[in-house]
Amino acid sequence: MKQQRVLLIIGGGIAAYKCLDLIRRLRDEGASVRAVMTRAASEFVTPLSVAALTNERVFTNLFDLNDEHEIGHIRLSREADIVIVAPATADFLAKMAGGHADDLASTILMATDKPVLAAPAMNPRMWLHRATQRNVALLKADGIHFVGPNTGEMAERDEAGPGRLAEVPEIMAAARAILSEGAAGSVTRLRSSRPLAGRHVLVTSGPTHEPIDPVRYIANRSSGRQGHAIAAAAARLGARVTLVSGPVALADPPGASVVHLETAQEMLDAVERSLPADVAVFAAAVADWRTARQPGDKMKKTGEKHALELVENPDILATIGKSREARPALVIGFAAETRDVVGYASKKRKAKGADWIVANDVSAKTGVFGGAANTVHLVTAEGVDDWPTMAKEDMAERLMLRAAEFLRRSTAAAE
Ligand code: C5P
Repeated sequence: MKQQRVLLIIGGGIAAYKCLDLIRRLRDEGASVRAVMTRAASEFVTPLSVAALTNERVFTNLFDLNDEHEIGHIRLSREADIVIVAPATADFLAKMAGGHADDLASTILMATDKPVLAAPAMNPRMWLHRATQRNVALLKADGIHFVGPNTGEMAERDEAGPGRLAEVPEIMAAARAILSEGAAGSVTRLRSSRPLAGRHVLVTSGPTHEPIDPVRYIANRSSGRQGHAIAAAAARLGARVTLVSGPVALADPPGASVVHLETAQEMLDAVERSLPADVAVFAAAVADWRTARQPGDKMKKTGEKHALELVENPDILATIGKSREARPALVIGFAAETRDVVGYASKKRKAKGADWIVANDVSAKTGVFGGAANTVHLVTAEGVDDWPTMAKEDMAERLMLRAAEFLRRSTAAAE
């Protein structure tokens, strides 16, 4: 974080005190920190302690004429490399999502052209409230980055659930990642804020359903959240996106053309029909087996034992990864493991002919399945990158930014 300029907007919540530690750690790493406090924030920490730690004056009021004369809100918002909002309260997220600009903090966010990282903290019920979730989805679609909230005990007694402010090292890691993506992608970004423009990204998502008879099927618990988030991120970054999806309870991501289907065989056919593509991401939880026969009529109870004969489904990732015709320049697979995550993922990368494997630990303690966050390791031919815990949407965006950079470099090398 050396020489990086952080503009920290401190919201009014019980977790605001953690910002003091955040400021200290940011400065320890060589960043400069300027702080803006909402009116409610100063009920929780004093501007004096924030000023002492930042070694700068603290900004609070939009209508302070002295402030506007010395350094206006536009300059404040531009003279930063990143804006961090912590704790981002339910009310402040609502203001951000609605585009309000009635105090210094919200006006800065409306005026900034820099990446914004929000670290929400609130009561679990408020976090899970539809209004908050709707606001967060809007903000993510606008490109706001999120870290946390974490799940655990709350300050209020007997309250537990998602809503705890991400830990300071997690906020630092997320900020570092955003700043380094910015640096890596800066050339691309200067040319275009849509680094995947002109590219075709193909994504598989969701489970598959394998029929047993006309009314019953074999399925799994995949929600499709990660695959859909990748399709949405690719579309936001300018790609033409084909999303091939098994049955999910999610809306089609904006900007993607979606093929809905049920079985693994249908998914392979749809993938092959959708080629060529520059990037193919295989995020679907494809059923490994299908039934050998599917009777045309509903099976009846007979009082006898009944055995299902299963045959293996095609491996879609391996079929495309190892194909010689129309193989996408970048083939990305997933590996969900409960132990030796990176070891198994590296083997899978080679065995399936993938370029990258996104490996994640799905042991019960991580809560990845169906959850909002993910801790992944990106396994490539060059080695392994450990990514910090982040929302599936942020992981999706980071993966697609990295794919854009890969394509840019390989195009540049070929020219
Ligand atoms: O072998 P495993 O199921 O762990 O591999 C996971 C990866 O392979 C995922 O990227 C998944 O989408 C892909 N896969 C596939 N077709 C299958 C099985 C897995 O594309 N039949």
